[in-house]
Amino acid sequence: MTALIETAPVITAANGALRRDFPLKPFAIRHKLAGHPLLTLPRIAQLASELPRDLIEYNSGKVAISQDPDAMPRVDLNPVEVVRSIETAGAWMVLKRVENSPEYRRLLEDTLLSVARARGFNSLRDADFEQVEGFLFVSSPNSTTPFHLDSEDNFFVHIHGEKLFTIFDNADRAVVCDEEIERSMTKHRNLKYDERFAPRGTEFHLFAGDGCYVPYQWPHWVRAANSYSISMAITWKTREVRRLNDLHFFNSMLRGIGLPQKPPGAQPMRDTLKLAFYRTVTTAIRPLRASLAMRRALRRIALGKRANYYLKDA
Ligand SMILES: [Fe+2]
Repeated sequence: MTALIETAPVITAANGALRRDFPLKPFAIRHKLAGHPLLTLPRIAQLASELPRDLIEYNSGKVAISQDPDAMPRVDLNPVEVVRSIETAGAWMVLKRVENSPEYRRLLEDTLLSVARARGFNSLRDADFEQVEGFLFVSSPNSTTPFHLDSEDNFFVHIHGEKLFTIFDNADRAVVCDEEIERSMTKHRNLKYDERFAPRGTEFHLFAGDGCYVPYQWPHWVRAANSYSISMAITWKTREVRRLNDLHFFNSMLRGIGLPQKPPGAQPMRDTLKLAFYRTVTTAIRPLRASLAMRRALRRIALGKRANYYLKDA
C-alpha cells in the first residue's frame, strides 16, 4: 500500500477542482482507500478496544436530521460489540483522533501528502496541512448523522456501503446564524434543520471509492442507505482555522458569563487581544490535560454542564 501511495495520487478530483475549488468550496473526489486493511471491521473493532473511552462516541442511528442532543437514543452495547454487530446494531459510531495510532497516522499523512503533491507542494507543511487528525465512522444501515458542522477542513472518504452526504454553504446565515455556529463548535455540534433548507443543499451520492471535500464549518447531514457504512474524515487545521477556533471557544466562555461577543472578524483588534489572552491561559493549563478525569473537569468548567454528553454511558 505504501508503494502505491508513493507512486499514484490517493485522492483525485475531476475538472481540476483540487486547484480551482480547494479550499473554499466542496467538490466530489475519488480515492484508493476502499479495502485498505486498516479500514475493515475487524481492524476497526481492534482500534475500538484500544482507544481511550473519551475518543469514542456512539448512539442509535435512528435519529432525526434535526436531532435534539439531549434526546439522543442510546445503544446498549460496548464499543467493540457495536463494531462487530454493525450490520444489525442500529448504531452510529465515530472513533476520534485515530492518528494517535502510528499506522493510522501514516495512512492519513500519506493520503494528504499525495494531495499536497497534486497541488504542487513537496510536504504537508508547505501545503498548510497541519494538525492532521482522523475520524473513523461506522454506521448501521439507514443510519442518520444529524445536521452539524465541523471545526476543520476534511476529505471525507467513503469506504463501504452507500451514503448521501448533503452540504450547505457556510456563508448562508439563513441556514445557520453566527450564534448557532459558536454553539455547534463548543456545546454540541447538532444544528437545527428545517426542510425548507433542502433546495439550498448540494448532495453527494457516495459509494466505496467516492468522497467529498468538506470545507471548514460548512454544515452537513449524512444518511446511510441499506448496507452498513464505513467512512473516514481526513482532517487538518490551518493556522487560520486554529485562530478562528480559539476565538470561537473564548467567545463561548465569555458568553457563558454573560458577555456575548461579535463573531471572529467583526472586530479584528479585539480578536487579537482575546486570542493572546486565551492562548496564554490554555498553554498554562495544558499539563493538566494528561488525565481523562481532569480533561472531563476542564471541559465542564470551560464549556458548561453538557460538555461531556458523550461520556454519559462511559
Ligand atoms: Fe461532519
